[in-house]
Amino acid sequence: MKNILVTGGLGFIGSHTVLSLHEAGFNPIILDNLSNTNIGVLDGLEKLMGKRPVFFLGDVNDPAVYGEIVSKTGSIAAVIHFAAFKAVGESVQQPLKYYRNNVGGLISLLEAMKKEGIANVVFSSSCTVYGEPDAVPVSESSPVKPAASPYGATKQMGETILQDCADIHTQCLRYFNPIGAHPSGLIGELPLGVPSNLIPYLTQSVAGLRPPLTVHGGDYPTPDGTCIRDYIHVCDLAEAHLAALNRLLDGSQNGRFEVFNIGTGHGNSVLEVLQAFQAVTGMVPAYEIGPRRAGDVVAVWADASKATNQLGWKAKRGLSEMLRDAWNWQQKQA
Ligand code: UD1
Repeated sequence: MKNILVTGGLGFIGSHTVLSLHEAGFNPIILDNLSNTNIGVLDGLEKLMGKRPVFFLGDVNDPAVYGEIVSKTGSIAAVIHFAAFKAVGESVQQPLKYYRNNVGGLISLLEAMKKEGIANVVFSSSCTVYGEPDAVPVSESSPVKPAASPYGATKQMGETILQDCADIHTQCLRYFNPIGAHPSGLIGELPLGVPSNLIPYLTQSVAGLRPPLTVHGGDYPTPDGTCIRDYIHVCDLAEAHLAALNRLLDGSQNGRFEVFNIGTGHGNSVLEVLQAFQAVTGMVPAYEIGPRRAGDVVAVWADASKATNQLGWKAKRGLSEMLRDAWNWQQKQA
């Protein structure tokens, strides 16, 4: 069984990917500092995997942690690097926190990979690198626009750093909007504090834990006036990581650095999401239309045909399934 180091492996996307790795016969090794998740995720994973995953409490910025992991687990075939901060608004307020963790953490990881002789990495990038696109859907050859936030800048810088590292093979995945949860409800999205993303806020609000949702802007140039995004089920996203990892390990990668859009290819407005949520769950979300949120793009969705043609990956789950699973997860929270 090949060891795969998963930084941020107790986070939302990380935990679902750990499960996919285990199911595919890999040995995932989690490194997480619990900065935006909690240790209880290990219990959910243990129930799903039938064994407790290997877990190291530590920080990607700490160079000592990697030697400790390798000495205890043996050689690592590849790294899947999730550990990063991801709140766009917070990144504007605290840019250095984002550059330190997202850029500094990647550099520390790459230095350690060189030292430990690890050449393969799957990198979490984002559709945010496209900024406000000139045309939709966006493909991998659409222009990378100036970043609208320090968070977006950290993703662009991460891509550049990886392209410059001649001894590293990278699968760079540009995610669109990951939502949903494992259908068991044993793992899901559990941001600490008030969620800034749509779905965790929506489900917590419908559960009575938050005030009504504010829809950020109802006067956009879209059919119903609200922003359009490409929502993708986190389990589909986890499977994309598996496909990217296999491509790294079987040597079928084309060049040192490859980038793939990971989305469904469909866009939905905020109001469409709320309608779909009501249709799936029978719960009526309370909301009000508020002002636009700084930094939001009007509409973006993926041309994911490159991932289909070259990675052999395609999103299988639709919006209803995503919302059903997100609500199921929310209902299982105490
Ligand atoms: C943002 C980033 C994305 C990043 C993700 C991670 C940009 C352009 N996008 O996605 O790259 O990976 O965060 O956190 O930087 N909305 C509401 N009310 C709310 C919350 C959200 O109406 O309370 C709306 C937003 O205006 C947006 C949609 O819901 O239209 C999705 O928002 P969100 O879930 O925050 O994700 P993005 O901003 O699209």
